[in-house]
Amino acid sequence: MAGSSVVGETDGLVDVTSPPPRRGGIHLVKHPLVEHHVTRMRRETTRPSEFRDLVRRLAALMAYEATQDLPTKPYKVQTPLCEAHGVQVRGRIGLVPILRAGLGMVDPVLDLLPMAEVWHLGLYRDEDTAMPVRYYDKLPAKRPVDVALILDPMLATGGSATAALMTLREWGVPQVKVLSLIAAQEGVDAVASQFPEAQIYVCQIDPELNASKFIVPGLGDAGDRIFNTIEPHE
Ligand code: PRP
Repeated sequence: MAGSSVVGETDGLVDVTSPPPRRGGIHLVKHPLVEHHVTRMRRETTRPSEFRDLVRRLAALMAYEATQDLPTKPYKVQTPLCEAHGVQVRGRIGLVPILRAGLGMVDPVLDLLPMAEVWHLGLYRDEDTAMPVRYYDKLPAKRPVDVALILDPMLATGGSATAALMTLREWGVPQVKVLSLIAAQEGVDAVASQFPEAQIYVCQIDPELNASKFIVPGLGDAGDRIFNTIEPHE
């Protein structure tokens, strides 16, 4: 998962070339640690405090992978000994957590991208229709960020991710990455076909949705498990 900027000396100048942007489509983040943490997250007996930790760990691993193609520019610094030639990330980056569950991914991604802006989108899935309902959106009309990372642990039908991508398209964001820990095959396929330019990062893709449009085997409702709001069974 190592980043891949090319650095070479040309006439005494440091030439730093950013890697080309990755192509749109589905990127499965495969790694033993990712699989280990996802398995624990799925477990019914995992308590909310551990569930939150797992979301944070997975969000960081995923963000590391999803930011490999961020553009950089040369940046000189003075070390205690001499001048060193390095780089800094170029452009404005926006994190777009989808409330509520996406909030669980914000801090670990902000730790890696402390310069990022955070623009919240409030969407919940109507329990009867499984369609997304928008309840919070304060995106400004102008000055879109250069790269947006949509954060949401789950992508089921893909309705919420689609609504978020539409919103970012209207805002004029040139490059969008979707970071979801678990997705259903039909949802991720639907989003990729409607937004072929979007990069969709997922840790695992499950085979199906049940009649209530829950991911199977899935992990239940990530928002309820993060915020400890699971209603007890009758
Ligand atoms: C869940 C999840 C996604 C959405 C995925 O949120 O966090 O936002 O459903 O489903 P979709 O792909 O079919 O749209 P939910 O509506 O449960 O809201 P919450 O985050 O407040 O729990």
